[in-house]
Amino acid sequence: MSKELIRLANCTMAFDDEVVLDNINLYINDKEFLTLLGPSGCGKTTTLRIIGGFQTPTSGDVYFDGVRINAVPPYKRAINTVFQKYALFPHLNIFENIAFGLRIPKTDPLGRKVKLSEEEIHQRVMEMLEVVNLRGFERRRITQLSGGQQQRVAIARALVNRPKVLLLDEPLGALDLKLRKDMQNELKRIQKAMEITFVYVTHDQEEALAMSDTVVVMDGGKIQQIGTPEDIYNEPKNAFVADFIGESNIIDGIMRADGVVEIFNRRFVCLDGGFDKDEAVDVVIRPEDVDIVPEDQGQLKGTVTSVTFKGMQYDIIVDFYGFKWLIQTTDLSPVGSRIGIKIDPDGIHVMKKSRYSGMFGDYSSYSEEYEEISGAGYEEDSGNAE
Ligand SMILES: Nc1ncnc2c1ncn2[C@@H]1O[C@H](COP(=O)(O)OP(=O)(O)O)[C@@H](O)[C@H]1O
Ligand SMILES: [Mg+2]
Repeated sequence: MSKELIRLANCTMAFDDEVVLDNINLYINDKEFLTLLGPSGCGKTTTLRIIGGFQTPTSGDVYFDGVRINAVPPYKRAINTVFQKYALFPHLNIFENIAFGLRIPKTDPLGRKVKLSEEEIHQRVMEMLEVVNLRGFERRRITQLSGGQQQRVAIARALVNRPKVLLLDEPLGALDLKLRKDMQNELKRIQKAMEITFVYVTHDQEEALAMSDTVVVMDGGKIQQIGTPEDIYNEPKNAFVADFIGESNIIDGIMRADGVVEIFNRRFVCLDGGFDKDEAVDVVIRPEDVDIVPEDQGQLKGTVTSVTFKGMQYDIIVDFYGFKWLIQTTDLSPVGSRIGIKIDPDGIHVMKKSRYSGMFGDYSSYSEEYEEISGAGYEEDSGNAE
């Protein structure tokens, strides 16, 4: 059973009347890997800083283990932070970098200064070197390490004090793609091995999906959706989430009945319900959920306007009645060809209209860019929905 460890209740943060976090409500369970995901400026770092105690919300409450901690300073919280800039001490070796926090005398409940013995410091640093796979590196200088190794030292240093929670703000941002992927697995392994809670910040949706138990999607200082990676991908709450996570065709639809949605005057069977009759909705169709069939067998018919080879599949742009979709397929349909498509009921996801409706999910600019590059001409599909 998971136990709630941290809670943000109605947290709002304003700087000079500019609201950057708008009524955030969020709980984080013990031993959970939770990721705050969203575009730059959406409020991820501010949320993390509130949890860490570096910032106090303008209004709202922060709880740790059921106790309100708004006024508790960072060093008195069982929480540590790893920043993108590792801020390691270049004049100290790896061992001393990790031991640094352990050498600072602590004050016990009776107000006495307590120092750890050298033996205990040694044992705890060696334990951490083991966890981050850097055993044997203890006498090396920071400058002799790669970026990934430096990041692991920063993590070891943050974990050696045995916090209950580790906050990580875009910790892999400075690393190249291959190393990022390795470190993603490494971080996941460390989190499991240490059995602690990670609150992770990234703007990289793939990273969020790959690492997290729970993803919190943010935009404009608001939480847009909270869920497992599968929930967020398969059941996005609105057009922002659908667009931000993976590729999505987002089309205007009308809900004719439970399980029946109309797109381009055609009725499609879907699994969604609970909308008003004839309610206008946003319909998400993922590029991989579209089956290409001969034109005369298609539920919709369109013209291929661009093809990009992606190794595993082709990304093709198809014009349906003036609206361009991205479809991923392993069969080549050349530019200019007419195709039909079929969509299974579970490939259709219906969402309520939101303030993001109409802003995302159209691939015409992608297609235009491609045409400009390739100079490919094709015959415009003049068809209306039959
Ligand atoms: N100390 C501050 N003073 C004024 N504005 C701030 C401050 N910190 C953050 N902001 C603003 O709050 C918004 C959210 O910032 P931040 O939480 O850093 O976003 P993210 O980490 O998602 O990129 C931004 O518009 C940023 O400019
Ligand atoms: Mg940030």
